[in-house]
Amino acid sequence: MPTGSVMVQPAARVRGRVRPPGDKSISHRYALMAAIADGRSLIRGYSTGADCASTLRCLSGLGVEIRETGRHPETGLDIQIEGRGLRGLHAPDGMLDAGNSGSTIRMLAGIAAAHPFSTSITGDDSLRRRPMRRIIVPLERMGARIASNEGRPPLTIAGTMDLAAIDFEPEVPSAQVKSAVLLAGLHASGTTRVREPLPTRDHTERALRTFGATVARIGRTISVQGGQRLGGRQLVVPGDMSSAAFWMVAAAALPGSEVAIAEVGLNPTRIGIVEVLRRMGARVDVTPATAPAAGEADEPIGTVLVSHGDLRDVRITPEEVPGVIDELPVLAALATHGGALSVTGAEELRVKESDRISALGEGLRRMGAEIDEQRDGFEVRATRRLRGGEVDAHNDHRLAMAFAVAALGASGPTTIHDAGAAAVSYPEFFSVLESLRA
Ligand code: S3P
Repeated sequence: MPTGSVMVQPAARVRGRVRPPGDKSISHRYALMAAIADGRSLIRGYSTGADCASTLRCLSGLGVEIRETGRHPETGLDIQIEGRGLRGLHAPDGMLDAGNSGSTIRMLAGIAAAHPFSTSITGDDSLRRRPMRRIIVPLERMGARIASNEGRPPLTIAGTMDLAAIDFEPEVPSAQVKSAVLLAGLHASGTTRVREPLPTRDHTERALRTFGATVARIGRTISVQGGQRLGGRQLVVPGDMSSAAFWMVAAAALPGSEVAIAEVGLNPTRIGIVEVLRRMGARVDVTPATAPAAGEADEPIGTVLVSHGDLRDVRITPEEVPGVIDELPVLAALATHGGALSVTGAEELRVKESDRISALGEGLRRMGAEIDEQRDGFEVRATRRLRGGEVDAHNDHRLAMAFAVAALGASGPTTIHDAGAAAVSYPEFFSVLESLRA
């Protein structure tokens, strides 16, 4: 796990153009599906983040041949994956390590459940604290056996060739849980259905279709018939809206700023931040690309231009939360620059890479912010300018980057401990930040 401290100086404004790194959520899914497809896949723009490297490392441990064929400073990695076909993974030699990545352990567990051997998966200190019953319960109902440390990693998954389809209603809106069950369902006898309490990102459904499967959605219920085979594909991963969010917020916050985000994913389940920024008073222009830029992928791409506006008070409702779940820390940072932000229905933040409600509150308060924490949310009010100071990112990538964006508006410098955690999703973050200072 990366560590290290970074000092961030205040900025008058930010200006420029950024191509964010390949989308983390989509990168994981393309790699996992390519691994169980028939034939070779080529993925361009695969995320350079440590989380997506963890997925590749775990897949290698399951006998998947993966080759990096290119590395580009802006767009990320080109990788080639030789698919092993449905149920074609090999038993691993030892424990697999998902690092910091909840997406890796949860989605991979869905696939491991369908293989007739035992797969053990662990992770770093943060991942070993995160709740896994949400996937253990449905995967056991389908026929797998999963041992855990009281519902936390390491997981040891005793898979079976005889998974049975289920109808499942997760208790929390979670794309990772939905995806674990759908990926297991792809291998099960019968039709697996997941009914979501609130809609979450739909990259798995789109990716399954792209790789050749039929996936149905009726209202909030998504279903997949077991036994469908996937085929290798050539895909381009769009830029990550959740990484772009840091620059969008910086541009919204600082007077005289304008940042253009290029080739970013515009999947409707991921652009909740656009609507929130507009409500807060920023100017946000979204231009979808006219020509398909994503190879065979079914993910909309485009350009987003953000400039500063006078910030207003905004409330984010529980229904909106899944669409901005990863952007809430940086939206809190925005509210330290002006306006006020209140969020409810976001209890899930407590079980992310850190307890994001408490760690965010602690950090922003240390910088001089006024923030109230609730069980399921928080309220930030920009009653005074931040002064900066020393904050701890708690090894949480999104907190490290959110504190950096808050620090731009402070009167003095801010030292962010554990800032190296940014490399989990955005290794280039701090150098891009310097390039945008106007
Ligand atoms: C993700 C889903 C979300 C999100 C995470 C990535 C995904 O988690 O917070 O960063 O790729 O499916 P949950 O599904 O646990 O809400």
